[in-house]
Amino acid sequence: MSLTVNGRTHEIESPPLTTLLDVLREELRMTSPKVGCEQGGCGACTVLVDGQPRRSCLIPVGALNGVAITTVEGLGTPEDLQPIQAAFVHHYAAQCGFCTSGLLMAATAYVANGGTDDREAIAHALGGHVCRCTGYVKIVDAVAAAARGDEFDLSTTAEGRYTTMHTGGDS
Ligand code: FES
Ligand code: FES
Repeated sequence: MSLTVNGRTHEIESPPLTTLLDVLREELRMTSPKVGCEQGGCGACTVLVDGQPRRSCLIPVGALNGVAITTVEGLGTPEDLQPIQAAFVHHYAAQCGFCTSGLLMAATAYVANGGTDDREAIAHALGGHVCRCTGYVKIVDAVAAAARGDEFDLSTTAEGRYTTMHTGGDS
């Protein structure tokens, strides 16, 4: 079967019941989706499937013929962050980064679907994403800023933070 990820089509060798998460990480070497609970409960593995956030640990790759997958690798680059990534940097919405990829994808869908800066609506959209570090306030700040279309001057931001926004870290 083939799988289209970030606009590029790949021939997949893994058996059809292999999870999308394992295919992305182990076969295609895209490490932004993180291996958390592997039971649908933490959101760390979230990617976009035809534009909607989905837990990649729950989806067998064989069910994905003909759909478009988007991961953080398909957002902006460290030199040219997309607005949601810039908002996370500006608002210090990531600490260890383990949850960040999944949150970025859920937030991307929220804003693309016309989400506003209403904090309750954002909390609802990000419900089920577990972050053990931030206390969530800065994450909601970042998504609200992106929903408003705020712009940021990130010229004084440390380079390491850009890397986290692009890959969700190395693990
Ligand atoms: Fe998929 Fe936790 S690893 S929801
Ligand atoms: Fe560490 Fe969210 S930043 S789990």
